[in-house]
Amino acid sequence: MKNIVILISGGGSNMAAIVRAAERERWQERRGARVAAVISNRADARGLSFAREQGIATGVLDHQAYASREDFDAALMSAIDAHQPSLVVLAGFMRILTPGFVAHYAGRLLNVHPSLLPAFTGLHTHRRAIEAGCKFAGATVHQVTAELDHGPILAQAVVPVLPGDDEATLAARVLTQEHLIYPQAITEMLARL
Ligand code: GAR
Repeated sequence: MKNIVILISGGGSNMAAIVRAAERERWQERRGARVAAVISNRADARGLSFAREQGIATGVLDHQAYASREDFDAALMSAIDAHQPSLVVLAGFMRILTPGFVAHYAGRLLNVHPSLLPAFTGLHTHRRAIEAGCKFAGATVHQVTAELDHGPILAQAVVPVLPGDDEATLAARVLTQEHLIYPQAITEMLARL
């Protein structure tokens, strides 16, 4: 069985989209893959209750309880590796990862970022796209490498930036596309593992 471990920090809508796709497309029977665990660095991450309701193992590791980024990432690696993951999926996981963490999961660590990379790495992508006068925005699924929001691109989706858009309306439009391309990109990765 190819185990998928998903890391979240908040709403978890991408995680929920992946879990629903796995159910709908019967990944377990057809692809020998399942979402084995959802782990959050925040106990109040709203996505945790969805995961629990789905019968998925959940875990919480509060990064504030660790003295250093390295200590937190070491504990996170132990929690993830307990599920023997074939894929580790960052889904709104708002932590910068140490090079050691990234190297440990090289080739099996994915992220979704709410911009058309390589444009707008980092935070506040929608505000920056609107301020820059972009006519199009979007989302990117990519393999994670040591450099933040870089790494081979697996999928992208484009949406228009409409007159009158603010950060919230653009983010919502982009998010609906994330929910489509992330499960699809994971499906393609699973076929390669
Ligand atoms: C998504 O838009 C995701 O692309 C973004 O956070 C949101 C999480 O939503 N991730 C990043 O900004 C990572 N740098 P979700 O918790 O509802 O999936």
